[in-house]
Amino acid sequence: MCGIVGYIGNKSGTDIVMKGLEALEYRGYDSAGIALINGDKSQVFKQVGRVSGLAKEVDEKAPEAHLVMGHTRWATHGGVTVQNAHPQANNDQTIFVVHNGIIENFAEIRAKLKAEGYHFDSQTDTEVVPNLIDFYLKQLPSFEDAFKAALGDVRGAYSIVAVSSKEPETLYAARLSSPLVVGVGDGENILASDPSAIMEHTKKVIYLEDYDVAVITKDKVSVHNLKEGKQTEPKVELLDFENEQALLGDYPNFMLKEIFEAPATIKTATLGRARADQGIVKLGGLESVLRQLKHVDRIVIVACGTSYYAGLVGEYLIEELAGVPVEVHLASEFKYRDEPFSRSTVLLAISQSGETADTIAALKKVEDYGVLRLGIVNAVGSTIARMTDAGVYCHAGPEKAVASTKAFIAQVTILTEIALHLSDGKHKLFKPLLKELGDLPAKAQVVLDSAEDIKKIAEKYADYRDFLFIGRNNAYPSAMEGALKLKEISYVHAEGYAAGEMKHGPLAMIDANFPTFAIATNSQLLEKTCSNIQEIKARKGPVVAIATQGNKTIKDLCDDVIYIPATLEETQPILHAIATQLFAYYIAQHKGLDVDRPRNLAKSVTVE
Ligand code: M6R
Repeated sequence: MCGIVGYIGNKSGTDIVMKGLEALEYRGYDSAGIALINGDKSQVFKQVGRVSGLAKEVDEKAPEAHLVMGHTRWATHGGVTVQNAHPQANNDQTIFVVHNGIIENFAEIRAKLKAEGYHFDSQTDTEVVPNLIDFYLKQLPSFEDAFKAALGDVRGAYSIVAVSSKEPETLYAARLSSPLVVGVGDGENILASDPSAIMEHTKKVIYLEDYDVAVITKDKVSVHNLKEGKQTEPKVELLDFENEQALLGDYPNFMLKEIFEAPATIKTATLGRARADQGIVKLGGLESVLRQLKHVDRIVIVACGTSYYAGLVGEYLIEELAGVPVEVHLASEFKYRDEPFSRSTVLLAISQSGETADTIAALKKVEDYGVLRLGIVNAVGSTIARMTDAGVYCHAGPEKAVASTKAFIAQVTILTEIALHLSDGKHKLFKPLLKELGDLPAKAQVVLDSAEDIKKIAEKYADYRDFLFIGRNNAYPSAMEGALKLKEISYVHAEGYAAGEMKHGPLAMIDANFPTFAIATNSQLLEKTCSNIQEIKARKGPVVAIATQGNKTIKDLCDDVIYIPATLEETQPILHAIATQLFAYYIAQHKGLDVDRPRNLAKSVTVE
């Protein structure tokens, strides 16, 4: 949830770390801070609020330094205060620590250290770490030994970076269930929570593994794995995406940019994979497990938030096309369930960031079951991408806005390809669907071209307090995803419901002040959805609908209609998503909200 950057090298680390924090701000934006070590002097700058606020102070007051680390926070333990912002320091102000994750036994450690005479100034769990290092440093020969000893006492999930004013040449880092990547430069090394803070400086990276402790100087990265109890040879990999993908260009914010990347996202997700001309689907990432996939008797999908809704669309696709039973679980629930598993069950994790703690925990839960673990992941080299046996990358490029948009488009596209692949070409929709995937980018563009119309409709509904989203069949997950988008960026209470459930309760809420967003595109169940719309209208509920171009009847039924191009029922959720994303976006924009960084949220949820 928080963002970490560390620099050691010949250049001005202050600027590099501040820029890196800006790139990572999407991970948390309650407060930010940096620590600089110059000779044996240290300085800390911390502020509540955005990185830009801290940047001003740093510009005015901070000197250049060659060892710098910084942090952008999403509060877990303790309120949003300067005191609780990172870096946290030991009592002597000689050891500084930034941390992402949760130290579960911090209260116990704090009590133990208090008994030893230490005092604590913040409410954070993190503050125990620099003091614990300090405690061990009094007994052990080196900072590295003290750092390792402290990590040995800590329980939870973390990425931690520590520096000492007595060691102005070294960054110490550790990870457990929380990402850290080292950018390997020439006479410099940069450490960060994800590559977006690094890629401007180098494309060579080392992804730290669980239990790794790294000692980083400007010329060297040495890694010791605490679990294996030995030094390991760090593997240097090359980043494969361009910096421009992470930049805003002419767009006012990342969310709009990423919504408008839908056509390119579909193209990239299908490129070389959905080959309509040859009548095949080729998923390179699954080649190594093809034999196991032949014997699959059930697929269990685990994911959170938007990725979970993509999974629900996948359930319809895989069951219909491949005839394989699918269950979709919220990862946060799945990890605590006693779920019967056979060897031929496949666990499929879906995640944009590849770092979601609950999804990682779901994968870990089945580690010893001997089941195949697959992933649909966007962030290349992320934890989930690395811990699964095989998988398909989304290749959607960095997604920076907290609200997930293009990642959903990529995930559903890939789930369609997986369903087609598992169907072995036997389903009657195999060829039409393959062809439709090729036509879809142009249809997505048509929806985007109607953005101004959607904006007008959205503005009309911007002041309502509540919203119901309804749909049937695979438009039901579209309704839930539409509701999530609206609540997360515009703070409007919204619920996604199966249209057929209306009479079982939700209809009671409907009156002139409670609008409904109906997903009513052409399908076998359209008439039934239209009956639900009639029932809502009969109770004076305003209705906006998404309908298929050419459907004139729906115009008489609803107050407002967003038309999308005709497509197969199976590919409709992709177009639904673009329309609901734009609808939510324009409501949030009309309310003057920060669409990229909605309150209380962060992009990657790396704590439970
Ligand atoms: O990175 P992931 O796909 O694993 O993230 C899952 C959810 O946290 C994420 O989709 C979240 O719900 C988004 N903010 C929704 O827009």
